[in-house]
Amino acid sequence: MSHVTQPIASRIESAVRDIPGWSPLDQLQCLFTLAFSSAHLQGDILELGSWCGRSAIVLGMAAQATGKVKVHCVDLFPEKNDWFRNADGTYSFSVQLNGVTFGAYQDQTVWEEPFLRDIAPLYERWPGTLEAFNDSVRKHNLEGCVIPYRADLESFVRNVAPDFCLSLAFIDGDHGFHAVCKDIETVEPFLLSGGWICFDDAFSSYNGVNDAIRDMVIHSGKYERFQQMTRKLFVAQKL
Ligand SMILES: C[S@@+](CC[C@H](N)C(=O)[O-])C[C@H]1O[C@@H](n2cnc3c(N)ncnc32)[C@H](O)[C@@H]1O
Repeated sequence: MSHVTQPIASRIESAVRDIPGWSPLDQLQCLFTLAFSSAHLQGDILELGSWCGRSAIVLGMAAQATGKVKVHCVDLFPEKNDWFRNADGTYSFSVQLNGVTFGAYQDQTVWEEPFLRDIAPLYERWPGTLEAFNDSVRKHNLEGCVIPYRADLESFVRNVAPDFCLSLAFIDGDHGFHAVCKDIETVEPFLLSGGWICFDDAFSSYNGVNDAIRDMVIHSGKYERFQQMTRKLFVAQKL
């Protein structure tokens, strides 16, 4: 059956079946629809926080379907030994890139249960999340369209082309308050008028994410068309 007539829900379901991650199918469908229907804005798509590629593949499917060229996927892509256990039993990681140390999940740490259930077993299949991500991209023939960057967001934006702009930014990185504020601040200058931000884990279990969205987005006067979709919140930059 051609891609055009095959229902997107079943295409997404089969595409992400073997990709570890947390985004449920209904939210992936929303993400696809948003990326698909905002393709007329011309800018690229940015994903901050890609893990093994579950949401990146779905964004890539939308980008490919619309002829939009790139989904930039920025992640520190931690390897097994980058993780450490904190005194309270939760987990964080830090990654060394070009002699610089980047810490993640220091403020909002990862609870022990999801770490042991979802994160630790992954390293029995792949040496690192970048290898898992690359496998997902290859399997779905999205090389050239879905591009990983092993970096933090600030390093990534320092190296973009002068005409780099975004129709959609999906923010799903560190869930601490200061980290999310910084991510919004960093992405904002590149967001096209009418362009979208999607926040993962909004108004669910992460106070840092909620407070950052309230301070930087909802009360800023710069955004409109707010819509919460279970755990994801979509907002558009004002026209
Ligand atoms: C919840 S996972 C992303 C899940 C992915 N969007 C999906 O749907 O499968 C969060 C990701 O953010 C990355 N991350 C955390 N802090 C980061 C930071 N400061 N810079 C870049 N990536 C970061 C982690 O490595 C992890 O892969």
